[in-house]
Amino acid sequence: MNVDAVLTARDVHGPTVDGKVAVVIDVLRATSTITTALANGCTGVFPVLSPEEGHELAASFRPGSYLLGGERGGLKIEGFDLGNSPREYTPEQISGRALIMTTTNGTLAIRNCHSSYRLYVSSLLNAPSVAKAAARHGRDVMLVCSGTHGVFSLEDAYCAGMVAQELRAGGAHLSDLAEACRIIFSGYSTAPLDLLHLAEHGKELLSLGFPDDLEYCARAGSLNVVPVFTEGRVAAEAS
Ligand code: MLT
Repeated sequence: MNVDAVLTARDVHGPTVDGKVAVVIDVLRATSTITTALANGCTGVFPVLSPEEGHELAASFRPGSYLLGGERGGLKIEGFDLGNSPREYTPEQISGRALIMTTTNGTLAIRNCHSSYRLYVSSLLNAPSVAKAAARHGRDVMLVCSGTHGVFSLEDAYCAGMVAQELRAGGAHLSDLAEACRIIFSGYSTAPLDLLHLAEHGKELLSLGFPDDLEYCARAGSLNVVPVFTEGRVAAEAS
């Protein structure tokens, strides 16, 4: 099994992931939010590319059966129910409901990977569980870092490195890029919060007033849920 990586959502095109297991990562914060929502009883997350697409899709849902969530510029979108802080997605808010979600980078990365053989969603919260699920298929794996505003982001590479480390321990071969992510991870393997504070997007979230989100998103391996995208919807994979 070969493991490779791409560094931004915009670098993903059909051939990048065709026939492969894709693992989409946006630690700050889209995939941490999706992971948390599903762990707290969300019935499914529908990634959409714009607020307008979100409202259109919402019209096909029964009132009360869904929430609109996401961000632009890191902040809640006008007319939406929730923002993109994973801590907003409590069981009281999201259990038994669908989530229609749009974010700047993370939901775009998921949608760009639709042609993959299997598409998993990972954050630091659930990376060990996702790595195990990805390895089970015996296929090549593409670690898809969403990046921030179209450029490399340290926290996504760190999470990709955590997944790569697990896959390498199972005998997988890492490309130079996957190996670079693993080396970033190994430098801070016991200090994920320090790494999030070093990252540009971490600093941006601190300036927007979300220090608790960094602390939460750094809780590596705290959730077992394995989110998988099929037919337009991310849901928890049956174990
Ligand atoms: C994104 O998808 O761009 C991020 O999740 C932005 C954010 O931190 O809210």
